[in-house]
Amino acid sequence: MAKRAKSAKVSQRKINRGESLRILISRARLQKRVKEIAREIRKDFPDEPLHLVGVLKGAVFFLTDLGKQIPGEVSFDFIAVSSYGASTHTSGQVRLTRDLDSSIEGKTVIIVEDILDTGMTLQYLLRVFEQRKPKRIRIAVLLDKPERRIASVHADYVGFTIPNEFVVGYGLDYAERYRNMPDVGVLSLGPSAKSS
Ligand code: IMP
Ligand code: MG
Repeated sequence: MAKRAKSAKVSQRKINRGESLRILISRARLQKRVKEIAREIRKDFPDEPLHLVGVLKGAVFFLTDLGKQIPGEVSFDFIAVSSYGASTHTSGQVRLTRDLDSSIEGKTVIIVEDILDTGMTLQYLLRVFEQRKPKRIRIAVLLDKPERRIASVHADYVGFTIPNEFVVGYGLDYAERYRNMPDVGVLSLGPSAKSS
């Protein structure tokens, strides 16, 4: 079952450009939950080679941590789509910007994504992947923001359910920044960004 992100321990950290950050999910909780998801996945498919497909770039840390925790045969591939650009709002347009290296035909594919927000990205990827005749497709997302959902997409593995706030860290970015933060935090934009 997906964990609900607690925001009890509020540590406000001032960062540059008038933006501020409040830690929502600590690195320790991320690691613990990723380990649990890895166990769940292997339990569901005890004897099968698993093909993890990471959605670049946000899912990179999630995929590498997850992959290390799944025993047995695991292969990786990556795909990239454009979604947000430099904004915190989706354009609703999804475009493939980098395709997979290898065929997924006959494989048990786990799409690994950083966050399920409107669902437009995963709905698009499911449509693309289903045409390629995999054995089966499952979806693993680190974060789920159910309040924002437009497309009805079901994630099979969810790390944390979070409120409708813009988060960064552990791969998630704002205009390509903050991906390298080891924790997940809520980003508040400064007054200059809000008025533009
Ligand atoms: P969706 O297509 O709206 O579900 O959005 C999925 C993509 O939007 C994710 O892969 C993220 O790159 C981006 N995204 C959605 N919400 C956030 C957020 O709170 N912080 C950073 N990126 C986000
Ligand atoms: Mg992004």
